[in-house]
Amino acid sequence: MRRPLVLWATAISSALLAYRFYRLPAPLGNDVQLGAAVDPDKAEGPHQHRRRKCDEHAKWVAKMVALHNATLVLTVDRKGCANFTNLQKAIDAVPDHSSSRTLITLDAGVYAEKVVVWSNKTGVTLQGRGNLASVVAWNDTANSTTGGGTFASATLSVLADGFAAHNVSVQNTARPASPGEAGGQAVALRVAGDKAAFHLCGFYGAQDTLLDERGRHLFRGCVVEGSIDFIFGDARSLYLGCTISSVANAGEDGASEVTGSVTAHGRASAAERTGFAFVRCSVVGTGRVWLGRAWGPYATVVFARCHFDDVVAPGGWNDWNEPGRQQTAFFAEYDCTGPGAANVTRRVPYAKQLDQREAAPFMDLSYIDGDQWGLPPMLGGVAVASADVI
Ligand SMILES: *[C@@H]1O[C@H](CO)[C@@H](O)[C@H](O)[C@H]1NC(C)=O
Ligand SMILES: *[C@@H]1O[C@H](CO)[C@@H](O)[C@H](O)[C@H]1NC(C)=O
Ligand SMILES: *[C@@H]1O[C@H](CO)[C@@H](O)[C@H](O)[C@H]1NC(C)=O
Ligand SMILES: *[C@@H]1O[C@H](CO)[C@@H](O)[C@H](O)[C@H]1NC(C)=O
Ligand SMILES: *[C@@H]1O[C@H](CO)[C@@H](O)[C@H](O)[C@H]1NC(C)=O
Ligand SMILES: *[C@@H]1O[C@H](CO)[C@@H](O)[C@H](O)[C@H]1NC(C)=O
Ligand SMILES: *[C@@H]1O[C@H](CO)[C@@H](O)[C@H](O)[C@H]1NC(C)=O
Repeated sequence: MRRPLVLWATAISSALLAYRFYRLPAPLGNDVQLGAAVDPDKAEGPHQHRRRKCDEHAKWVAKMVALHNATLVLTVDRKGCANFTNLQKAIDAVPDHSSSRTLITLDAGVYAEKVVVWSNKTGVTLQGRGNLASVVAWNDTANSTTGGGTFASATLSVLADGFAAHNVSVQNTARPASPGEAGGQAVALRVAGDKAAFHLCGFYGAQDTLLDERGRHLFRGCVVEGSIDFIFGDARSLYLGCTISSVANAGEDGASEVTGSVTAHGRASAAERTGFAFVRCSVVGTGRVWLGRAWGPYATVVFARCHFDDVVAPGGWNDWNEPGRQQTAFFAEYDCTGPGAANVTRRVPYAKQLDQREAAPFMDLSYIDGDQWGLPPMLGGVAVASADVI
């Protein structure tokens, strides 16, 4: 069955039409809903209203198609203007082991779903309409996954290589566990594929928000909110221009008690090449946090040119109650500012202050070999919203 090629293509300047569009085998996914409910309050007829709504959606999709070099485009919304009303259905429609790119647009709305990008769904770009505008939310915890544990609690799991996301947020809305309460770990994003890039995204949760498990990853201009170990795993990742927000409890004995940690890096041996690098990020929020705890003996975490509010504990770092790790962990800062960085003489003795030459390898895309795949989308050769970062 032949289908007309891409209706929205007319809206794109021909110079940008370096894209090929493929047809998927008919019939379309059974999730396609073209007869969805319309707003009865509008003076105009329901059909005109729906068309107008869908025109706006189609225009936005056309812009995003122009921005990304994708071979296949799949659209998701909650209004009945798109191919799917559910993100997982769109992921399932991505060709297996594809070497070309599939763009999935996610219109504004809250998608109450637990989503998995299986390892065979390679080369997906997920484009939303803004952090907090396009939201994927679920509320599993280590407890509620019946045996699956913390890793299985993720709202969005990215197991495939070559994933990119722009302008979406991922939330785990489970009730935050009380300090010391077991089973309340609640992951928003789990990323275990290689070469994954997140631009202008948000990750919201409490304990264990972002499982940065393995592979090379970029987080650019993102917000990460959490309390304990809320960026954890054994990946090699660059966090560029991100806002790291602590929602740890303020602590019983006032501001001095440390109730959380930004990172828990899991590097197990000297032979691994993993680490978390934070560049031009700010650490803000409520409860006191360490910059990192040595989850793995060779935990490697660097904060360079960052701003620390006074939520950063004066000691800075924690050895996970394993004093032996003080010799093997690499916990370092370079040229950070703000109240939480004002008096580094109070840092634990094994924390390092780097000089420019020592910090340089952690400070750009080469740290994650991301000089190609880590770049923001280009429109007419100009980076979109690259602005101050990179
Ligand atoms: C998605 O929707 C567009 C616009 O209605 C249509 O042209 C395209 O064929 C659909 N694609 C799939 C895979 O259903
Ligand atoms: C677009 O993608 C195709 C293959 O998917 C690639 O050959 C081409 O170089 C890409 N173009 C740009 C401008 O990135
Ligand atoms: C893709 O992965 C899913 C989940 O692991 C599996 O069910 C499916 O069979 C895989 N497809 C192929 C073609 O391997
Ligand atoms: C991201 O969303 C913001 C707010 O809606 C918008 O101004 C910006 O252009 C978007 N950028 C990208 C790359 O999607
Ligand atoms: C998730 O939300 C549902 C609906 O509000 C609720 O019934 C369930 O107990 C919640 N699960 C967890 C683990 O918080
Ligand atoms: C998880 O389950 C354990 C054992 O049933 C229970 O003690 C604990 O309170 C639960 N935690 C949460 C956050 O529900
Ligand atoms: C820095 O911390 C040290 C050790 O706690 C303290 O003696 C010193 O007065 C502090 N300096 C400033 C400027 O706060």
